[in-house]
Amino acid sequence: MSGLFITATGTEIGKTLVTAALTYQLRQSGHVVTALKPIISGVSDQEMDGTDTAILACALGQGLDEATLDAISPFRYKAPLAPSMAASLEGRVLDYDLLIEKCREAMDHPVFTLIEGVGGAFVPLTGDKLVADWIQDVDLPAIVVAGSYLGTLSHITATLEAMKARGLEVRGVVVSESAGDAPDFEATLAEVRRWTDLPVVGIPRIRGAEPWQQVPDLTALAGF
Ligand SMILES: Nc1ncnc2c1ncn2[C@@H]1O[C@H](COP(=O)(O)OP(=O)(O)O)[C@@H](O)[C@H]1O
Ligand SMILES: [Mg+2]
Repeated sequence: MSGLFITATGTEIGKTLVTAALTYQLRQSGHVVTALKPIISGVSDQEMDGTDTAILACALGQGLDEATLDAISPFRYKAPLAPSMAASLEGRVLDYDLLIEKCREAMDHPVFTLIEGVGGAFVPLTGDKLVADWIQDVDLPAIVVAGSYLGTLSHITATLEAMKARGLEVRGVVVSESAGDAPDFEATLAEVRRWTDLPVVGIPRIRGAEPWQQVPDLTALAGF
C-alpha cells in the first residue's frame, strides 16, 4: 500500500490544488493513481460542479457520474462547516469506522492512493476523532499544505509540532501562495525552511482555469 494523505494548516489553503496536481502529474508520468476526498461539506448532490470531488474526478480523467461521486466522496454534507458540526445539523454522525474502511478499500489495490483530508489536521470529524486520528488509522505519510498569508508561520510550526507529538510521518510542506496582500513569497519560503528540516515546496500564485495543471512538479514528495 502506498500513498499520501494531503492535510493542511486550515481550510481553503490549497489541499485540493495539491491533490489534483499530484494526481495529474503522477498520471502523466505513467503511475496508476486513485484520489479520494472522502468527506466533503458545503455541497449538494444536485450541484457538484466546481467542488473538490469534481476537480479530483477531472484530474483522474473521469466524468462525475453517481458511482464516481460515491467512490471519491462517500461522506457528503450540505453545511460548509467542520464535519462534526455539518453532520450534526443533518441529525447524523459521521461513521468513522466506515470512513477508515472506505480508505483501506481504496488503498487495497496496486495503485498510488492520494487522500485529501478536510479542513486542517486537527479539525473534528466526530465527537472523539480528529483528522489527525484519521491519518494515523489509514497509516499514510502526510503532506502539510499551508498558505503564505501573514500568520502562516505560526500555523505551520504548530501543525508540524502537534503532528510530530502524535508520531505522524510528514513527508513535506507545500506552501501555496495566498491571494491578496501576503508577505513576500520567497522570503516566507526561506523562513519556513529555517524552521523545519522537511522538504518545503512553494506554489506561486497561478492564474487561469484548472490551476492544478500548472503546479510545479510535486512528484518528489510522493517518493518518485
Ligand atoms: N497558488 C495558488 N494559485 C492560484 N490559486 C490557488 C493557489 N492556491 C490555492 N488556490 C485556490 O484557492 C482556492 C482554495 O484552494 P483549495 O485547493 O480548494 O483549498 P482546500 O482544498 O485546502 O480547501 C481554490 O480556488 C484554489 O484553486
Ligand atoms: Mg479541498
